[in-house]
Amino acid sequence: MIDISPLIKPGLGNITPSLIRQINNRFGKIPGIVNLTIGEPDFKTPDHIKLAAVQSILNNRTHYAPNRGTADLLKAISVYLASRFGLDYNPDTQIIVTNGASEAISTVFNGIIDTGDVVLIGSPAFSLYHTLTILNGGVPVEMDVSKTGFKLTPKMLTGFLNKYRDKVKLVILNYPNNPTGITYTPNEVRELANVLRNYQVGVLSDEVYSELAYFDEHVSIASYLPEQTLLVNSVSKSYAMTGWRIGYLCGSPAVIKELAKVHQANVATVGTPNMDAATEAFSLVIGMLRRCGLFIFASVIICVSRLSRSVTGLYRLRARFMCMSRFPIRFMERRWPMLNSWHKKP
Ligand SMILES: Cc1ncc(COP(=O)(O)O)c(C=O)c1O
Repeated sequence: MIDISPLIKPGLGNITPSLIRQINNRFGKIPGIVNLTIGEPDFKTPDHIKLAAVQSILNNRTHYAPNRGTADLLKAISVYLASRFGLDYNPDTQIIVTNGASEAISTVFNGIIDTGDVVLIGSPAFSLYHTLTILNGGVPVEMDVSKTGFKLTPKMLTGFLNKYRDKVKLVILNYPNNPTGITYTPNEVRELANVLRNYQVGVLSDEVYSELAYFDEHVSIASYLPEQTLLVNSVSKSYAMTGWRIGYLCGSPAVIKELAKVHQANVATVGTPNMDAATEAFSLVIGMLRRCGLFIFASVIICVSRLSRSVTGLYRLRARFMCMSRFPIRFMERRWPMLNSWHKKP
């Protein structure tokens, strides 16, 4: 027997399976537990969206769809982005429907990051950016934002861009942010854009929580840097559709033309009935999202006030349905040994 495991890319050895998934697998099924692990709304997908998928199947829309997505969904995304955020994306040349935001993010990394390329990531961050940088042979450089209210400042960003100069291919922005729950004000977004426009770097802006900014108007950095930005979003959180796996990637026509090849090679296209369901979701733009946002906000307030009875150091929350708290290291060591390697990370 020949062992082919040594053929696996060495970088994979440096990647640990998602901790939040490990915690969820271990504790999530305990009867009666309030599960605050994986980031997803506890709403059910609305019935009119489910029915659109049923109807799609009954109408035999069960064949391959065009690679970049169905014409109806591409148009619905374009209309949504224009009406909600004033963005101008041509459905024929500037949008790809992906398998959730996750595939949109991996398409960007696979299409842009090569050996030795630096990716600047605000830290703490959603772990996928780090994983994909390593998988593509790149170098993740973490910009520690814990001392600046969990926000990347123009000064800090300039410092990192100047330090790594031409090596930087991508800067990752994620706001409203996972895991910190912070978001940027329109003015802060403009200031970051003013820095970024002076460098030849791509800006991957992961805005999957854009409908969950409670206090601040969400402004996409794409409205300041349309050419430089690779905008990622999905219906997962905003329409309670995490299991349907519909996301989208938007950018300039030249970049989207190339990245569509990566998408085509990896997944060919996304499931047609799921795309039809997402098209239906976008037909109710404001109603559903706003209602959903208010419900989520109310649940978060209740949850945070309950938690604050037993947990100290909860950070103020501006968006999303997550909050950050301090935990004594001793507690983690005793109760959750699996987290040891994480908090001891250099
Ligand atoms: C910041 C961030 N980006 C992307 C994703 C993935 O979203 P999707 O379910 O649409 O793939 C998540 C999921 O939790 C996330 O938190």
